[in-house]
Amino acid sequence: MRLSIIGTGYVGLTTGACFAEVGHHVVCVDNDEAKVRLLRAGGIPIYEPGLEELVHANVAAGRLEFTDSIAEGVEKSDVVFIAVPTPPNPDGSVDLSFIEKVAREIAGAMTSYKIVVDKSTVPVKTGEKVAETIKRYCRAAVEFDVVSNPEFLREGFAVQDLMKPDRIVIGVRSQRPVAAMKEIYAPFNAPIIVTDINSAELIKHASNSFLALKISYINAISILCEATGANVVEVANGMGMDSRIGRRFLDAGLGFGGSCFPKDLSAFIKIAEQLGYDFRLLKEVQRINAEQMDRFVKKISDTLWVLKDKTLGVLGLAFKQNTDDVRNSPAIELCQRLLREGAKLRVHDPKAMEKAKAVLQGVTYVEDMNAVAEGCDALVIATEWEQFKQLDLERARRALTHPIMFDGRNLFDPAEMERAGWIYKSVGR
Ligand code: UDX
Repeated sequence: MRLSIIGTGYVGLTTGACFAEVGHHVVCVDNDEAKVRLLRAGGIPIYEPGLEELVHANVAAGRLEFTDSIAEGVEKSDVVFIAVPTPPNPDGSVDLSFIEKVAREIAGAMTSYKIVVDKSTVPVKTGEKVAETIKRYCRAAVEFDVVSNPEFLREGFAVQDLMKPDRIVIGVRSQRPVAAMKEIYAPFNAPIIVTDINSAELIKHASNSFLALKISYINAISILCEATGANVVEVANGMGMDSRIGRRFLDAGLGFGGSCFPKDLSAFIKIAEQLGYDFRLLKEVQRINAEQMDRFVKKISDTLWVLKDKTLGVLGLAFKQNTDDVRNSPAIELCQRLLREGAKLRVHDPKAMEKAKAVLQGVTYVEDMNAVAEGCDALVIATEWEQFKQLDLERARRALTHPIMFDGRNLFDPAEMERAGWIYKSVGR
């Protein structure tokens, strides 16, 4: 099918590449001319495993192209996806101005029937507003349908999540766009659920908030584990074997961050408030997440006593593994807290050092993870990168003034670490 995607960020670019990969013709549109130039020249603005290969192969096959013109995208497609940012306002509500502007521009460019699909994460009832806006700004005779099709991809696993989705949610007002939407997704062999638009929009916020709740839940359990000598990983394993609960998103640590969970939680709390419901359960999820960081910083200062003029080696800056994204990264927040306490930091991340430099200054960036510990008083693990498990522990132990490690992501085995002579403090174990 002929598709266009407005917005070439994480969601737009990876979705566009995956749609092209299964045979659709895709025009990716972005109003950032520099980004479009970069993409046309074969550059990829984000790090996402497998994305670069996918983009290059589909551009070469003539199925994927880039433009800064919405009119061109609309003209060359039957289905127009909106994948623009929905950033938070200072009060936690969602800034929908990009969506509104794009809806107007799509409306102005439409000359024949189009299906306009919202992929961005939006508050319930946004689809109604988008439909009203398009109706107001398009030529009278042009017909269209608005569809809600939320995206559930995780950064770092975006290609994998898009190619093998758990489910596809399609929210519609009438049956007219359903066949085309099913055709677009047929190659992905995933279950498709067709709902009304409001339900589809709610599914997205309800899902992300539930996952955040799961993380805060296990982080709260980690407090009880530390108070009793129990092991939160074993508790999570035991809970997760119940198929009604499941093991995923039960990893205790520094708490959740990123561009989605914190923002979506605040938005959902605000949406509920506007609908007359005080969603206190989710406020507690936020509180537990904030306190998890406080508790970890306290663990470090309780052990090292005065942090002023101590040097700490920090492994991890991205908000999670497999990404260079540092937006709302718990690792960056931890670094900033340690700097405020007067500590000096030597930091490393396999992918996120360049992006971190824009938000984290006054630290020493170290290219080799095995060199981070040199001259440090302790090591801190802040992101769950798989390669940190390959750290040369013996070299690190010798490089440190004292072999102390604070592991905020539970990457190592406490018994083995102690046997190897480490003072090892992790979360909930
Ligand atoms: C999330 C949702 O998973 C995805 O469906 C949605 O489309 C966008 O938001 P993402 O933000 O990319 O995706 O990352 P995710 O893998 O969900 O991790 C979010 C945060 O939770 C990270 O900071 C991660 O470290 C943390 N986390 C995750 C935990 O602390 N424990 C866990 O068990 C899982």
